[in-house]
Amino acid sequence: MKRPILVAALLLLAGCGDEHRAPGGVRGDPARGKIALAQYGCRACHIIPGVTGSKVYVGRPLDDMARRRIIAGTLPNDQANLVRWIRNPQAVDPRTAMPVLGVSERDALDMSAYLLAH
Ligand code: HEC
Repeated sequence: MKRPILVAALLLLAGCGDEHRAPGGVRGDPARGKIALAQYGCRACHIIPGVTGSKVYVGRPLDDMARRRIIAGTLPNDQANLVRWIRNPQAVDPRTAMPVLGVSERDALDMSAYLLAH
């Protein structure tokens, strides 16, 4: 008789654990995001944890993104603004050296999920 209750309790605990792994309700699929970061060539200009690429970089390394307060010197750092920046940096800052790479909404969301978790 006790076992079903124990299983239910474990499932509840497991559910909570998942939520805590995504601080601030981060959406998107980090595993897909990691692949997209490589495919779009972000690593040509950025050092990205876990994504191998150039050691000569143009933009800042994209590590510890979850702890940054500001993105690219202008935007408050949250997931929506990360997606906005990744999709169209020129709209935020017309003088930035980061090009518009034609990143889809979903790819940008997944990339931001990866960056916010590393
Ligand atoms: C041609 C070089 C180049 C490429 C390619 C590039 N970036 Fe950037 N990126 C930059 C530069 C330069 C900045 C700094 C912009 C600024 O501060 O005005 C930047 C800034 C950023 C920032 C803000 C970082 C911070 O420290 O505030 C993020 C996030 C970012 N890029 C993500 C990406 C992603 C994701 C991709 C791939 C889709 C990408 N970048 C591709 C050059 C590039």
